[in-house]
Amino acid sequence: MRLGVCGAVLLLAAAYYVYLPLPSGVSEPWKLMLLDALFRSFVQASDVVHKLGFCHSIHMLNKVVSWVEVTDARSCPAVHVTDSTLGGVPTRIFQPNEGKKLKRGLIYFHGGGWALASGKMRSYDRLCRKMAEDLDAVIMSVDYRLAPEAVFPDQYHDALAASQAFLSAEVLQRYSIDPERVCVSGDSAGGNLAAAVAQQLASDNSTSVKFTAQALIYPVLQALDFHTASYQQNQAVPILHRPYMARFWLQYLGANISLVPVLLENNHSSLDEPNISSKTRSKLNWTAMLPAERRKHFRLVVKEKGSPGVVSRVPGLLDVRAAPLLAEQEVLGKTPKAYVMTCEFDVLRDDGLMYARRLRDAGVDVTSDHHEDGFHGCMVFANLPMMSSVGQRSMNSYIRWLDQNL
Ligand SMILES: *[C@@H]1O[C@H](CO)[C@@H](O)[C@H](O)[C@H]1NC(C)=O
Ligand SMILES: *[C@@H]1O[C@H](CO)[C@@H](O)[C@H](O)[C@H]1NC(C)=O
Ligand SMILES: *[C@@H]1O[C@H](CO)[C@@H](O)[C@H](O)[C@H]1NC(C)=O
Ligand SMILES: *[C@@H]1O[C@H](CO)[C@@H](O)[C@H](O)[C@H]1NC(C)=O
Ligand SMILES: *[C@@H]1O[C@H](CO)[C@@H](O)[C@H](O)[C@H]1NC(C)=O
Repeated sequence: MRLGVCGAVLLLAAAYYVYLPLPSGVSEPWKLMLLDALFRSFVQASDVVHKLGFCHSIHMLNKVVSWVEVTDARSCPAVHVTDSTLGGVPTRIFQPNEGKKLKRGLIYFHGGGWALASGKMRSYDRLCRKMAEDLDAVIMSVDYRLAPEAVFPDQYHDALAASQAFLSAEVLQRYSIDPERVCVSGDSAGGNLAAAVAQQLASDNSTSVKFTAQALIYPVLQALDFHTASYQQNQAVPILHRPYMARFWLQYLGANISLVPVLLENNHSSLDEPNISSKTRSKLNWTAMLPAERRKHFRLVVKEKGSPGVVSRVPGLLDVRAAPLLAEQEVLGKTPKAYVMTCEFDVLRDDGLMYARRLRDAGVDVTSDHHEDGFHGCMVFANLPMMSSVGQRSMNSYIRWLDQNL
């Protein structure tokens, strides 16, 4: 009897911990709640370890992730897998075993807020293996340095150095890659690096071979507006809650985490901040760039008076290498054919939708692939046994686009 009561109480407590009111329409809500509870418990546990002074919470999180997730480079009959370096940056390389003809090539940057995860994680390893096999392409997954040790522009520089090496005659030849069929890609923070590198290499002359495609999976592209319609709509939707994203940004830009509340109020981009020009503001004015069915009833949140001076203390906020949405139209116009995946239940939805719109306005051929029941991270979690539906669908449409456009 007493055991029964205890059991019921525990079950209720667990349900309370896991339960989260989710918007209707999100794919497989209970599975998402479970994933979120798992993620939250990891974050909370590592915050406790941090407070006790054992180690930094990010290190703890990465340790847990690597126990659970990191895999060795294991080849299989269809794909030869090796760990190597590219431009001095650690890289896992996936080569299809079939045939002698030139192959398509793709360089991939994993997500994780510029602080977490690795290309060696099972989810990324499986994604790259599948791409190598399905596309008969050479895939290179890059382990750029991570925060908090490395901060902007280290991650960007690693991504750029790896990309320059990838496009060199020597590497293309060594791996039999067709120089006219090379793509840069990544998800979330990796999508940010992919977009930034695509801009840089399209407008400088450091490589004679240029990327012919860019494929961005729910990318993060700006840090001036934390009240876009999607930030407002999805602020409490797992797994990327709004405050997490502000924290990831500050950590990436090497700024003080105590600025999180300032960013969350859009105080850093208030109208009394003289360093943000109206031209810059117009590049992320989602009320002008998004269709009505995405804007819904949401309104711009622009403070008359805020906390001027933050962008001078954290100059990365205005640096296009960190925030590719702020690029000039002429630069965007030089970048290759693009694929931009967005998910309805993702704070970063509008970053991606605005970027697709700006690329299109600049004359770039853009495929905007929006998933009405998707959430942040869904494609990479597609391989977890419990995550099937939207994860699989989004991965299939990403790979199909590459097959038809690369
Ligand atoms: C690349 O551009 C820079 C500056 O625009 C120029 O100084 C340099 O000579 C160029 N290099 C090549 C190989 O064309
Ligand atoms: C961050 O800001 C807080 C509050 O302003 C301050 O107490 C702390 O010393 C700062 N930390 C660093 C590393 O600058
Ligand atoms: C944003 O766009 C709307 C609609 O085009 C316009 O009325 C508004 O002034 C713009 N706001 C800013 C801050 O650029
Ligand atoms: C935002 O700016 C307003 C006006 O300057 C100020 O009253 C408020 O305390 C600021 N909020 C934060 C979190 O700094
Ligand atoms: C901000 O404006 C001040 C004064 O106009 C200038 O000295 C500073 O370099 C600017 N900072 C940035 C990041 O543009």
